[in-house]
Amino acid sequence: MTHKLWGARFAAAPSALLHVLNDSFGFDRELFAEDVEGSVAWAKALVPAGVLTASEAETIVNALRAIPDPSAPCSAGFQPAPPSEEFEDVHSYVEAKLYDAVGALAGKLHTGRSRNDQVATDLKLWLVRACREAEALTDELASALKSRAADEAATPMPGFTHSKQAEPVTFGHWCLAYVEMLGRDRARFLDAASRGDECPLGSGALAGTPLAIDRDALAKSLGFARATRNSLDAVSDRDFAAEYLFTAAMLLSHLSRLAEDLIFFSSDEAAYVELPDAMATGSSRMPQKKNPDVLELARGHAGRAIGELTGLLALLKGLPLAYDKDLQLDKEPLFRIRIVLGTVVPALTAIASGLTLNRDRMRAAAESDLLLATAVADALAASGTPFREAHEIVGARLGSIRELAKEHGITVESVLEKKNSKGGTAPARVREAATS
Ligand code: ARG
Repeated sequence: MTHKLWGARFAAAPSALLHVLNDSFGFDRELFAEDVEGSVAWAKALVPAGVLTASEAETIVNALRAIPDPSAPCSAGFQPAPPSEEFEDVHSYVEAKLYDAVGALAGKLHTGRSRNDQVATDLKLWLVRACREAEALTDELASALKSRAADEAATPMPGFTHSKQAEPVTFGHWCLAYVEMLGRDRARFLDAASRGDECPLGSGALAGTPLAIDRDALAKSLGFARATRNSLDAVSDRDFAAEYLFTAAMLLSHLSRLAEDLIFFSSDEAAYVELPDAMATGSSRMPQKKNPDVLELARGHAGRAIGELTGLLALLKGLPLAYDKDLQLDKEPLFRIRIVLGTVVPALTAIASGLTLNRDRMRAAAESDLLLATAVADALAASGTPFREAHEIVGARLGSIRELAKEHGITVESVLEKKNSKGGTAPARVREAATS
């Protein structure tokens, strides 16, 4: 018989329609490891609280550790597994398996605990890990870009504003712009992890637990930095979930911009770079095609991630205290995003490391007349002409910009070298930033 967590006050069995809507085991199996961890810690805390003897706790802990992992559905791919009819949620699964193993003793484990503080605890354990994992993946991408920047600190290419050629920059400088963005993303993941590093266990259903539990010691035993401070907030707070989704959406927005740049750089028109073969796709119809599908998918996933964030915020905004079942729907977006990050970020790392540069094309484009116009105006300004007048003069003589540039000894190298103040594209500055 499958053990049920509730039902005594009901005259009719739950309808099949209720199961489809209410059951979450199909996706919250992802929290299995965390649910076992939380239950092990709770069983141990029940000993000093006088609910379990030390040997009962040991029996429960050993049985919990032997429960088979119901195989996390999302680790297999993007599609969540269909809901299981057998268990309502991961907590019911763990408890049912515990009953199978130790009989009636299993019924003592839920003393003073609720699924509300249990699920909040599971999710926080999961999210702290997901944040750290995302930070590490982001760091790998940033390192790949940084090492390319060190090698290409003096490689000229056109810089753009409004998608129009603007002034020369170096390819290394372009790489480091993304390193800056990724640095902020990493800090946000770590920050979210440390803000969410609080243990809700011991908050009960909403009002706290009637047992004498040392919640700080319990929090520490689970590896949390501290215990939450208000039970109503602890069971209903999902800020950390929203923060994870925001941070992921921000990271993916950066990756989408990177993808957008690389799609253009690898286009037949620009041809500044070529994607590694292993990270490009072909066409079923046009034999010559080498397509940037990976980059387009990164861009697409950024859009969907923004949707996941707004979906969760909309879910949260009207919830009365404390726990409401709407909160069960907080999980799938988190599980999906972890898979997206685990797929997209390493794919972009592979592209960043494997990109072939067509330095001649980049240089030729960076040396085009129009890209030198600002430097000519700067040169006139340097010899005393007010910059506004210099701008007018150069603007009126764009047809002879090449001669003007020559007159003033302006080359793409001299233009780059002049941008030598902190944060500028001068090769020396780029080299310094790439190796610091
Ligand atoms: N599956 C539920 C969730 O994910 C667990 C908490 C259930 N609590 C309750 N009061 N029904 O939120």
